[in-house]
Amino acid sequence: MFLTNLFDQSFDFQARAWSDLGWEAVRTDDGSWSLRDLSGPSQELMHHRWGAYSETEYVISRVLPDVFKYVCDPFILNLGLGLGYNELRLATVAFQNKKSIAGITFEKDLMLLRLFAHTLMGHTRGADAGIVPDPFKMVYRDVFSLHPVEGLEFFLSLLLGQQWQLHGALNLRQLYEELRGKVHLFVWDPFSPKTSPELWVEEDLVHFLSWTAHPQYSWFTTYACNGVLKRALKRAGFHVVVMPGFGSKKHSLIGFRQ
Ligand SMILES: C[S@@+](CC[C@H](N)C(=O)[O-])C[C@H]1O[C@@H](n2cnc3c(N)ncnc32)[C@H](O)[C@@H]1O
Repeated sequence: MFLTNLFDQSFDFQARAWSDLGWEAVRTDDGSWSLRDLSGPSQELMHHRWGAYSETEYVISRVLPDVFKYVCDPFILNLGLGLGYNELRLATVAFQNKKSIAGITFEKDLMLLRLFAHTLMGHTRGADAGIVPDPFKMVYRDVFSLHPVEGLEFFLSLLLGQQWQLHGALNLRQLYEELRGKVHLFVWDPFSPKTSPELWVEEDLVHFLSWTAHPQYSWFTTYACNGVLKRALKRAGFHVVVMPGFGSKKHSLIGFRQ
């Protein structure tokens, strides 16, 4: 499902606090915000507690230079908007390197999509974000302040021009016709198998990656490292490299096929 009216400035945000949406805002050790899932079985934090922003940078910066080296206009698929760190980092680096990008984000929590789009518009265009309650505004203001305004502007222009689509939940079993053979870079940032078991089924991952990855040039990066993902990537034709993990995590994965 593509969402259309995310920028509707008259939207009534009935939630007044993060907990009304099932999240708790938590500051990580580098000072950047993360969200804890209060409704899931393991109350998982979206990022490593050592640093939400630092972890994002770590996971993205190790593949993006290669993607830009080999592909002119890469198409990027990001799983999990969360607070939008991945998108803003990708857009910032693309802007700084004078590269155009396009992409899609899948996010199950539609309120996160709406809050992000709404506050980004308010922040960069001076539109009235007055109807967004303060606890949300404060967190997004801090997230945005970690990125140069040109990066924010660039991402907003991609959203408004629909070069970057915001989508609801990802269903690995669905055949997304518009994504067939299209993805040059997967930024795979879902919750763990405990919280989101449906996103960690080997057969479904093989099917989804084989269907969506660009046949010639495709990269994959994630904070995670487990057998299911390794096997799925290999079966979908990726070379898999085990990398050091961020913070106290032992390992993480990248994959590529060229
Ligand atoms: C680890 S967080 C992502 C953090 C995010 N990349 C950021 O920069 O803040 C995982 C996200 O995946 C979302 N999610 C869970 N299941 C999903 C699904 N089936 N499809 C899309 N998003 C999903 C959660 O709502 C959550 O926002």
